[in-house]
Amino acid sequence: MKIGILNGGGDCAGLNAVTRSVVKQAEEFGWEIVGIRYGWEGLLNADSVKLSFREVQGIINQGGTILKSSRTNPIKRPNGVQSIIENVEKLGLDAVICVGGDDTLGVANHLYHKGLKIVGVPKTMDNDLSNTDYTFGFDSAVNEATHMIDNLRTTAESHDRVFIVEIMGREAGWVAAYAGIASGANMIIVPEEPFDIEEVTLFVKTRHEKGEKATVIVVSEGATLRNMKEVDQGKVDEFGHARLGGIGQFLGEEIEKRTKYDTRVAVLGHTIRGGSPTAFDRVLSTRFGLAAVQLIRDGKFGMMVSLRGTKITGVSLEESTSKTRTLDPEILDVIKKVSF
Ligand code: F6P
Repeated sequence: MKIGILNGGGDCAGLNAVTRSVVKQAEEFGWEIVGIRYGWEGLLNADSVKLSFREVQGIINQGGTILKSSRTNPIKRPNGVQSIIENVEKLGLDAVICVGGDDTLGVANHLYHKGLKIVGVPKTMDNDLSNTDYTFGFDSAVNEATHMIDNLRTTAESHDRVFIVEIMGREAGWVAAYAGIASGANMIIVPEEPFDIEEVTLFVKTRHEKGEKATVIVVSEGATLRNMKEVDQGKVDEFGHARLGGIGQFLGEEIEKRTKYDTRVAVLGHTIRGGSPTAFDRVLSTRFGLAAVQLIRDGKFGMMVSLRGTKITGVSLEESTSKTRTLDPEILDVIKKVSF
C-alpha cells in the first residue's frame, strides 16, 4: 500500500502531530507514505515528498505544517478534478488522507464520489465542523487567546480603559466564547447573536457608573450588528470566503465616540493560530492520525475520524461537511450568565 497525506486550508496547531502519527501507523502496517505539499495545489501538480518516521519523529510540538498548506479549490480550476484523479494514479497512491476543515473536506467528499479512496481528519481552530465534538487546533487557539486577554486585562485596569479584543473564528463564535469565558471577559460578542451598538454602549456605561472603570469586550471577527444591511464582502477566496476583520475597530471607535471613555482595540488575528499545540491538541491529533490510517486499513473510505465524547470514531464526510457547526445554545447561555 502507498498512501498520501495533505493539509488544506488555514494551518493550525497540531497538523504536524497528525502527520507524525499517520507515518508511525502506516510504517507499522508496512505501508509507504508520501506527504503532498500545499494541500490540493500539491495534488494538482503531483508535488509530493516521501516521509518516514525518522523525518517526523521530533515534530509533535511544532506549530504550522511541514507539508505546507493552501486554500486551493480544485473544483474551481479548469479540469481540476480530472487532474487530481490522474495525479493520484501517477503517484501510485492507493488512498489519500485529507486533513482540513469544511472546505478541504468538502472537496475530499466530492472526490470520494468521483471514485478516489479518501478519508478525512477534522482540523480547524474555528471548531466549526459538524459531526465531531472538537477539531484539533481549537484548544491551542483558545489557550493562546486566553493568555492574551489575561494580559490585556492587566493593562486595561492600570489605565481605566475599555479594551476590545477581536478574535478569529469566521461565522462561528467558538474561540471567542471559550477564550472569553476562560479569561473572565466582561462581554462576549459572537456571530450567532447579532449585537446592538446601543446595548453594548449602555453595558459599558453602566459598569463605569458602578465604579468598574476597565471593561474587556471580546468580539468574534464574524460578529454582525443587528439590522445591518448586507455589505459587499470584497475579495473572496476560491471557496467564496471573504477576509474578515474590522468589527473590533468599529466597536472601539463607536464606544469611544458614544461614551468618551479611553478605548483601545487589539486584533489577535493569526497570533492564536500559530505556535505550539497544547497537550490536548497533541493527543487528539495523534489519536486522529492513527485512526485515519486504520480507516484506510478497514476500507472505510468517504469517512472522517471524529471525537465523540472521549472516543475516536468514524463518521461520514458527507454529513460532516454539509453545514457549519455554530455555538451550542448552552454555551450561548453561559456567555449571558457570566457577562458582568
Ligand atoms: O478558518 C481558519 C481561519 O483562521 C479563520 O478563523 C479566519 O477567518 C481565516 O482562517 C483567516 O484566513 P487566512 O489565513 O487565509 O487569512
